[in-house]
Amino acid sequence: MITSKLPNVGITIFTQMSQLAAQTGAINLSQGFPDFDGPQSLRDAVGRHIASGHNQYSPMTGLPALREQIAAKIARSYGVKVDADSEVTVTPGATQAIFCAIQAVIHSGDEVIVFDPCYDSYEPATQLAGGRCVHVQLNPHDFSIDFDKLAAALSPRTKMIVINTPHNPSGALISRAELDQLAELIRGRDIYLISDEVYEHLVFDGVPHVSVLAHEELYQRAFVVSSFGKTYHVTGWKTGYVVAPPALTAELRKVHQYVSFCGVTPLQYALADYMVEHPEHVEELPGFYQAKRDLFCDLLAPSRFTFTRVTGTYFQLVDYSQIRPDLNDVDMAIWMTREHGVASIPVSVFYQNPPQGQRLVRLCFAKREETLREAGAKLCVI
Ligand SMILES: Cc1ncc(COP(=O)(O)O)c(C=O)c1O
Repeated sequence: MITSKLPNVGITIFTQMSQLAAQTGAINLSQGFPDFDGPQSLRDAVGRHIASGHNQYSPMTGLPALREQIAAKIARSYGVKVDADSEVTVTPGATQAIFCAIQAVIHSGDEVIVFDPCYDSYEPATQLAGGRCVHVQLNPHDFSIDFDKLAAALSPRTKMIVINTPHNPSGALISRAELDQLAELIRGRDIYLISDEVYEHLVFDGVPHVSVLAHEELYQRAFVVSSFGKTYHVTGWKTGYVVAPPALTAELRKVHQYVSFCGVTPLQYALADYMVEHPEHVEELPGFYQAKRDLFCDLLAPSRFTFTRVTGTYFQLVDYSQIRPDLNDVDMAIWMTREHGVASIPVSVFYQNPPQGQRLVRLCFAKREETLREAGAKLCVI
């Protein structure tokens, strides 16, 4: 008999829905990945670096040239200076960065506050560290932080709070005023922060992403995580990074060096080259994805789904109350895939205790125009 360390973990809904989409031939708007490739010159650079012999371990902390580019990008985007050597660490994906940050500071019995609906990796990472997640629900109408609920959830055992902005699955952004409120609430307490900012460049309608990197007070206790996979349309490269003050970075690196030691070398070379050659890429991303969001939402406008256009990420939540109020969201997602050929993600899976009667599914619009048009046509006849 195996005594599982993660007895409640099974195959994720993301894998299940992608499998169902493949089996049924449905358009897969469930899992969050583009159905188009990253920039040609970025992909070419990987081949070039493999051919030229960049195939051995890179430094544990990440390739210096890439860390320099990350620091330069942070300076351009957020007007703050971070030290590439002592504050930036490249990891094989944002998920690994989050895992290492949690292992680095969470001890047995510590509590980690997460906001539901939340990304699925925070909880198992906390459990493996011997900690316990305390789930606080975001406001149901706009997915903003309910500060009364957060204050009530704080305890002497609270060791970490995990925020995610722009937020998966809702697309909501945390404002500067909310960060200030958070700072005030935890001032003087021994609480770390993970700020999961993997969608930092996917923001729309001119609304800026407010990074914890630019919040002097919160940054002192934060691990700020990002993902090249999201930013450069290469989710399968599983390359990301974490920025944290030197003392936190030192602790994180102690874990990272025994989880993977380093990231994939030729990918890091290619990303560093591309960032030098195309600093405009990140500035163009909001426009690139806003066009997709608008196309998709325009296509959905005549449908019976109701929705508010998201401000960030590449996900659109849609309410199906007017279509099949009799179905819970898991059954709705399965029914939509089987009967109508579009796979989605039920939002209840992002909750410990899903709100009763919520009728939301998440659709990913990081897709080619023809995919969005085909999906839009199918969604309009449901
Ligand atoms: C909120 C959030 N954090 C982290 C990740 C993981 O990023 P990566 O693929 O770089 O591990 C994702 C991917 O879907 C995500 O949505």
